[in-house]
Amino acid sequence: MCGIVGYLGSREAYPILVKGLKRLEYRGYDSAGVALGTPNHIEVIKKQGKVVDLEKEAIGKNITGSIGIGHTRWATHGVPNDVNSHPHFSESEELVIIHNGIIENYDSLKKELISRGYTFKSDTDTEVLINFIEEIKKAEQTTLEKAVQMALTQVVGAYAIAVMEKGNLTEMVLAKKGSPMVIGIGDNEFFVASDASPFLEYTKDAVYLEDEEMAIIKLGEGITIKTVHGNVQVDPFIQKLQLNLEAIEKGGFDHFMLKEIYEQPKSIRDTLRGRMLVDKGIISMAGFQEYEAKFLNAKRIIIIGCGTSWHAGLVAEYLIEQFARIPVEVEYASEFRYRDPIINSDDIVIAISQSGETADTLAAIELAKERGATIFGICNVVGSTIARTAHAGAYTHAGPEIGVASTKAFSSQVAILTLIALHLGHKKGNIAQSRFHELLTELDSIPEKIETMLKSDDRILEITEKYGQMSNFLYLGRGVNFPVALEGALKLKEISYIHAEGYPAAEMKHGPIALIDESMPVVVIANQGSQYEKIVSNVQEIKARKGQVIAIVNEGDQTISELADFHIEIPVTEEAFTPLITTIPLQLLSYHIAVLRGCNVDQPRNLAKSVTVE
Ligand code: G6P
Repeated sequence: MCGIVGYLGSREAYPILVKGLKRLEYRGYDSAGVALGTPNHIEVIKKQGKVVDLEKEAIGKNITGSIGIGHTRWATHGVPNDVNSHPHFSESEELVIIHNGIIENYDSLKKELISRGYTFKSDTDTEVLINFIEEIKKAEQTTLEKAVQMALTQVVGAYAIAVMEKGNLTEMVLAKKGSPMVIGIGDNEFFVASDASPFLEYTKDAVYLEDEEMAIIKLGEGITIKTVHGNVQVDPFIQKLQLNLEAIEKGGFDHFMLKEIYEQPKSIRDTLRGRMLVDKGIISMAGFQEYEAKFLNAKRIIIIGCGTSWHAGLVAEYLIEQFARIPVEVEYASEFRYRDPIINSDDIVIAISQSGETADTLAAIELAKERGATIFGICNVVGSTIARTAHAGAYTHAGPEIGVASTKAFSSQVAILTLIALHLGHKKGNIAQSRFHELLTELDSIPEKIETMLKSDDRILEITEKYGQMSNFLYLGRGVNFPVALEGALKLKEISYIHAEGYPAAEMKHGPIALIDESMPVVVIANQGSQYEKIVSNVQEIKARKGQVIAIVNEGDQTISELADFHIEIPVTEEAFTPLITTIPLQLLSYHIAVLRGCNVDQPRNLAKSVTVE
């Protein structure tokens, strides 16, 4: 969380920083700020609220300068207000910093600095860090680079920082641990950011800093990278970025979330492309091959993730156990990491993360790795920390997901996990070749079926009008669609702020049924072939208590469609693949309800897309 940008070159920095911050706002939007270097002082402009509020604040101020840093905040230490906004000055205003992460030992450092006469304006850990750097710089009579390095060796926590010094218009010091940082390399100019989106139009050459590395960028001299501890110089590895600008723009849609929902036929095709050779009846995944034998011999697969990624893991539990007959456990990364889990060296841990940066997932991976497990990462962001920390993995290739509520990343995660389940099942001899071929052919048709599904948007608008102002929703599903019910409820909570709960349909009678009355819409995923009769009974139980039923049914359905108040038809597919389709109307429903209620769909309150704190 928190987005950082920086520029050092010969262009005006301010417009680059502001545009960059807007692209990073998905990382947090409690406040925004910039610092610009001028020959005699550093101009800091910062404001609680969004980047547009910062722009208003900047009117009439000095916004010139070719060196600058910017920050968009997701508050951790200190409430979101102007003072706690970044950038933060040191006491003397000689140094200025932006920071993404948490300095865990800030309290003891702060006490020490206070005893040496420092005063603090904000409640942030970041102000402590910049004063600590200043104190070292003064005490040791050393350079900014050395002072930053010495400070970081004494810091516990996570950071991606950029530091500038008054009067020094040609140098910036950067460092990273735990939080992401990428440096765009132009022609005697440098761009710094949490991800590459802020500088795509300027350069495609990028260096991703590794943990506990620092970079010194100097105009006319270039970039020097070295380790924070050990001071070992590292050759910069310049990568060519594959991203393009269109992928991070709204493309005519009102919101990124809607664009991303509509992109799913394409993103799922991209996930499956080259990995599923339908004609040959083969699944082949480059990142998987080397560890295939380990997967096939695994006594257990543990899946970890957070939020929506955890839901994708739950879908996989059904699929892997069904097809591969390998026991699967799915766990929240945050619980797994703290409960001293039993991990064996022949366990496979699948870590799922859209961003590849989630702090809890990363910590859980590190724990499992230490205990000898093989880690397989499923990430969307190429080059992200989790992707690099795992032993092996597969990218979802869903393209940049900017709406904070995850949509296309979820379906791509499910698609790749479906491939893994089918492949393992086939290799283990649980799926005959002819059936395997049939399944691949059907999976190949899913993007087209989603295209058909997306045409029911008018029906979903009708449902939105009827129920959009209700205060509570229940989502029910059975089997492989139980996790979809959880995901549907999460989507509604996240962006409409409506209380919603997901349950296995059969569990309704053990509690949630007490809540059902005429003001409780119940979304029932009712297309499940093998448990259809059971779902009919569940729907009848709801109707008997005057609940309002919105049912997701298969095309041509008779029984549930008649019982339900509203129904949405979806194209028929293999039961195992239904989550890829049933999830679409639930995403659209939450989107339309959020729009109806005037909520900020892409940037829901209190949330951030990339959660790099515990
Ligand atoms: C945040 C996001 C969710 C996401 C979760 C896990 O809460 O708002 O959309 O599902 O983090 O993120 P990850 O990047 O690890 O999938």
